[in-house]
Amino acid sequence: MARRKIVAGNWKMNMTPSEAVKLVEELKPLVASDTVDVVYCVPAIDIVPVVEAVKGSNVAVGAENMYFEDKGAYTGEISAPMLVDAGVKYVILGHSERRDYFKEDDVLLNKKVKKAFEAGLTPILCCGESLEQREMGVTIDWIRLQIKSDLVGITAEQVASMVIAYEPIWAIGTGKTATTEQAQEVCKGIRECIAEMYDAATAESVRIQYGGSVNGANAAELFAQPDIDGGLVGGASLKADFGKIVNY
Ligand code: PGA
Repeated sequence: MARRKIVAGNWKMNMTPSEAVKLVEELKPLVASDTVDVVYCVPAIDIVPVVEAVKGSNVAVGAENMYFEDKGAYTGEISAPMLVDAGVKYVILGHSERRDYFKEDDVLLNKKVKKAFEAGLTPILCCGESLEQREMGVTIDWIRLQIKSDLVGITAEQVASMVIAYEPIWAIGTGKTATTEQAQEVCKGIRECIAEMYDAATAESVRIQYGGSVNGANAAELFAQPDIDGGLVGGASLKADFGKIVNY
């Protein structure tokens, strides 16, 4: 069965709650689609109003992060059951900004991936290499290590239902998109890694996004690649351009 495309906006640390509701209203007619899954991953404080604002539309809401414990003395953190209760369906885990600025490592991310599944959330697990790693020729080795570490103890059935986002760090927010060939090559490599770790059916089922300077002009070519099942979109998700990406 053909994989359904999934286009997710990663709002990052943008949009106050009132701005968020306004943006959802503006984008509503532009992102309508019967064929593509559309997700807005929004700052924690925007989740409740955005869940309300997307009601009745084709848009699902995701979080940008979560903690792996259900509750307790973890000041400032947000748990998976809190997200689920608020109406969240997806959660971005392991974005390179979290790995880099907030020192999230693969041991922590593995706990978060496990918790997301336990709570009934669909993880959008991010991976990607730095420019130095690409130039050293270790891109695929690095990404395989990230995927293998983050998925320890995760079942084939769970992996089949999740989303993996390949985001070369050098392409994020820089306007430097990976070439279609580079993006396809790594997304294919991720699928091969899943096939080795699990089986062919799981690899065929998992959805793999490309992320890094996706916009209305380059989405169609990227999404036409056999192993690219949509995109994780930062900057362009905050503008009307997001509608063009969804309806690529
Ligand atoms: P960008 O961000 O589209 O602004 O490059 C992508 C991301 O970080 O998910």
